[in-house]
Amino acid sequence: MSRIILPLQEKYLDSFDKNKDSLLRSMEEFAEGNNVPILSNLSANLLEQLIVMNKPQRVLEIGTAIGYSTIRIARRLGRKAIIHTIEKSTDNITIAKENFKKSGLENKIKLLEGDALRIMPQLQKKYDFIFLDADKEDYKRLFDYSMVLLKKGGVIYVDNLLWHGYVAANKVPPKYKKSTSLIRDFNRIFMTQPSLSSTILPVGDGIGIGVKVL
Ligand code: DHB
Ligand code: MG
Repeated sequence: MSRIILPLQEKYLDSFDKNKDSLLRSMEEFAEGNNVPILSNLSANLLEQLIVMNKPQRVLEIGTAIGYSTIRIARRLGRKAIIHTIEKSTDNITIAKENFKKSGLENKIKLLEGDALRIMPQLQKKYDFIFLDADKEDYKRLFDYSMVLLKKGGVIYVDNLLWHGYVAANKVPPKYKKSTSLIRDFNRIFMTQPSLSSTILPVGDGIGIGVKVL
């Protein structure tokens, strides 16, 4: 189990990529060639769409990787809006910085270097939109911090909630048992959180969208 939608359908939908520039394409190729998990194109399209609809002034991304989704968010932000993005891998940080420079969007992006579990409790000003895509072992704790940092009416967008389909499978390969169990626990919390209106969509690897209603 590895794809949530049929490859043929995904390929068809991906063929409408009218507005991706050469930087984004080269980042996709780099990710593919170096086994860096980046947001799927369809999940990134949905994310961009929510940014355009919600017009957040302050966005927080947890898990920058090489900055692919950071750039896709940043290019949809309003004139005064900004994105803060947290990354702990020094290799990723080096590459992400280069990509931000190339994107011409450096003035909208602030990279916070270090472990989100340490950085988030120190953040004081709240955010309108939070994108969680970090290490799956940390998801629950990072979600708790996110709920503190998210404004009422704000949106939280979470990647990998179908986890290659394993969360719904009876048989899970040993390598994925621990992470699958963590994501299953996470999904229960995410879907029953009283302060959130929440849904999980079968887009990409499974996308959670929560709106803070209380
Ligand atoms: C994997 C995929 C992701 O999108 C991610 O954020 C982390 C890991 C993976 O397939 O292992
Ligand atoms: Mg992911």
